[in-house]
Amino acid sequence: MSEFKEISPNAPAGAKLLNWVDNRFPASKLYREHMSEYYAPKNFNIWYVFGSLSLLVLVIQIVTGIFLVMHYKPEATLAFASVEYIMRDVPWGWLIRYMHSTGASAFFIVVYLHMFRGLMYGSYRKPRELVWLFGCAIFLCLMAEAFMGYLLPWGQMSYWGAQVIVNLFSAIPFVGPDLALLIRGDYVVSDATLNRFFSFHVIAIPLVLLGLVAAHIVALHEVGSNNPDGVEIKKHKDENGIPLDGIPFHPFYSVHDIFAVSVFLMAFTAVIFFAPEAGGYFLEYNNFIPADSLKTPNHIAPVWYFTPFYSMLRAITSEMMYALIAAVVGATVFVAIKSRMALFFKVLIGLVALGVVAMMLNIDAKFWGVLAMGGAVVILFFLPWLDHSPVKSIRYRPDWHKWVYGVFVVNFLVLGYLGVQPPSDLGGRIAQVGTFFYFGFFLLMPWWSQKGSFKTPPDRVVFHAH
Ligand code: HEM
Repeated sequence: MSEFKEISPNAPAGAKLLNWVDNRFPASKLYREHMSEYYAPKNFNIWYVFGSLSLLVLVIQIVTGIFLVMHYKPEATLAFASVEYIMRDVPWGWLIRYMHSTGASAFFIVVYLHMFRGLMYGSYRKPRELVWLFGCAIFLCLMAEAFMGYLLPWGQMSYWGAQVIVNLFSAIPFVGPDLALLIRGDYVVSDATLNRFFSFHVIAIPLVLLGLVAAHIVALHEVGSNNPDGVEIKKHKDENGIPLDGIPFHPFYSVHDIFAVSVFLMAFTAVIFFAPEAGGYFLEYNNFIPADSLKTPNHIAPVWYFTPFYSMLRAITSEMMYALIAAVVGATVFVAIKSRMALFFKVLIGLVALGVVAMMLNIDAKFWGVLAMGGAVVILFFLPWLDHSPVKSIRYRPDWHKWVYGVFVVNFLVLGYLGVQPPSDLGGRIAQVGTFFYFGFFLLMPWWSQKGSFKTPPDRVVFHAH
């Protein structure tokens, strides 16, 4: 317990109150540690605003969500109508609902940009592995949160989207059908499904999400922020222990972030007021039709932020299985020839590969599709240990690495685009190549990330006053 601090009886009332609180709760200490004395590198650029923007959108979603729950009815016969009631009769209900629906897409936009920043500057590497792992867990939660929330308006897309995705779980060998039943609470998507998704969407997942976000920021503040040069600013400190290349988060970056918040809110409100459906991307047109269990829409597509992963799911056809088997065999031969590990381990890997190939030949392609879709997210968790490059930031990597990252982004966007489109032969082929590239990017990273000629990173951050 820290010393009880006395304050002069002549101090202003505000100072006395703060002193009273500080003697019982570390208010000033927290403020100092996380704001006025949190030293962040002075070379932050625009990519560093997306963490704060993610926080902002999280708050928007929670606040608008609370108001939506006041009028929404989680019951299959009432849900659709209650959303219409919010849109037409509840004062400002349309605004609250559009803020929430636009907020969902905005969340993914800022989080994808935030993740890409981490990828570019190697922010996931030592000592920030846990910051990254908490981030990946946040991303998983966010996907679950968005998926469950999408069922609630009980429109055609809500219903059939949930039907398609929950059915995927039944492709898992042995436990699949029971698992799908457990998720639905019924043999088809029904009122029971709506009730449990509601419960998860409004309380269970948000609680976990908030806990993870807190852990994410505490972990970051423990090790300190990375920066576009990937240089550790803690290496050079002044006599008071303050990093020479650091500036206090508040006021310098609070102002930086408030500016970003204003720009973000301009774009956010422009969408809400002028294009809340965003051409069917943020709110799908089929979802303005009430759910009908007897009428399947012609084309079922998830919302845009899921479509890169959905494309990978669709890419794994029974034909693609042969290409995957060839990839497994090729990778095993590569390890056998190139790796310096003991013969025993090589034989072990060979046996495992043989087992995998046997499973691939015997289990339906649908299961491998589900595995690819899940694996595409899970693989992100391993990034800190896949990247073997001698430098953190993209700035000091060989130029061709920049191209690899560029192609990775374009590939992700193309997969996203294809996932929105109805299935086609050409689209399917492109998605298959894209899926290979996506996994190749990560799985071959231990090899390619250390190839090429690297520039020497500077000792101190590169900063030009503006
Ligand atoms: C609700 C979602 C999220 C919130 C509110 C959030 C919040 C933040 C904040 C406020 C920061 C510090 C400011 C900044 O560096 O931009 C940060 C840093 C970071 N976040 Fe997140 N984040 C979220 C999701 C994610 C996800 C999904 C990942 C990755 C999978 C991630 C990875 C990171 C990393 C690696 C850093 C450190 C960056 C650096 O120091 O260069 N975050 N986050």
